[in-house]
Amino acid sequence: MSDFKPGLEGVVAFQTEIAEPDREGGALRYRGINIEELVGAYHYEQVWGLLVDERLEPGMPDPEPYEPVGLTGNAPSDLQAETARLSSVWGLKKLVDIDDDEARDDLARLSAEMMSIVARSAAVHDGRDSAPDVVVAQGETAAEKFLLRWRGEADPDHVTAIDTYWICTAEHGLNASTFTARITASTGADCGAAMSGAVGALSGPLHGGAPARVLPMLDEVARTGDPKGYVESILSQHGKIMGFGHRVYRAEDPRSRILKRTAKELGSPRFEVAEALEEAALAALREYKPDYVIATNVEFYSAVVLDLAEVPPDLTPAMFACARVAGWSAHILEEKRTGRLIRPSAQYVGPESRPLSELGGAPVPS
Ligand code: COA
Repeated sequence: MSDFKPGLEGVVAFQTEIAEPDREGGALRYRGINIEELVGAYHYEQVWGLLVDERLEPGMPDPEPYEPVGLTGNAPSDLQAETARLSSVWGLKKLVDIDDDEARDDLARLSAEMMSIVARSAAVHDGRDSAPDVVVAQGETAAEKFLLRWRGEADPDHVTAIDTYWICTAEHGLNASTFTARITASTGADCGAAMSGAVGALSGPLHGGAPARVLPMLDEVARTGDPKGYVESILSQHGKIMGFGHRVYRAEDPRSRILKRTAKELGSPRFEVAEALEEAALAALREYKPDYVIATNVEFYSAVVLDLAEVPPDLTPAMFACARVAGWSAHILEEKRTGRLIRPSAQYVGPESRPLSELGGAPVPS
């Protein structure tokens, strides 16, 4: 038990053929394809196909007609509950009882529907009715259909922003939600259970919630006009500058590069402030930790791009979940193919064997 690693950090739990974050080279490849080549050339639903089927076509299908019940407007919890519910509504079979093709089709249906559920929940949050199927059907891409369902209209810049964000964050190897999806799949449960478990894991602020914390920083720098002073005041109190640093990359996060370009091309009103803050933060962090590379991570420009698409900060975890349906689906299928139950061990560090009488309290009368 001497090899116990808190948080499993550095423990290799799986071999995967799905995505490869290139730590030193600052690249992210899906099935060997650099994501730089995908953005602008393909849409999210085709990237879903690349990750899950290893080919771009046919990709993720359109959502089926389905009316969720009892949406609350809290998107992560609506998504988790409704995804689990779909297992019974659609009669999804257990992964151990179906072949890979059927599992793939279950995951495709679920992925499309999960996006639709988030859009419907966002409409409830806004206090309006989500658009009917006939309006959604006018959309050409998954991102456009998503916005149509949510708002009844889809600004082309918002569509591009969301499509790019989803492609960049569709998959990133192992992390808490993907691990959860794989653990659930390894028990032979159905795909709805595996996807819904992943949503629960992602709903915590330590996994996918950082964009919401970037916007207040931008507001503060816009107000004071002093990015240098702002970052120095955080570092002097040993605080963290949100949107910088990464466990994996020791170079620039490639997703940040793409999202920055997108924010600029689409004319984000926050771009100038964001770039000024980024420059000040990178310079200050180089001085603060000269022997440790702390570069811009995906969350920083994700915040700017999602803001451009008028996605409110509290919806960002659910937007991340929409993106990850591709990665989760690919991992659930990969896990199914291993056919092996995940069953790690725990090191017991509790009390020694002892008599029950030590606990006190009266036993139940016989
Ligand atoms: N701002 C200020 N200091 C930072 C920093 C940041 N964004 N990121 C790392 N550091 C500092 C730490 O305080 C630590 O200093 P110390 O040794 O004096 O305690 C040192 O650099 C190493 O930090 P650590 O957290 O161990 O590095 P890591 O590479 O494992 O951490 C993150 C990666 C993402 C957890 C970390 O960079 C972070 O908390 N970033 C800010 C939050 C964020 O953007 N999260 C989204 C990630 S996608």
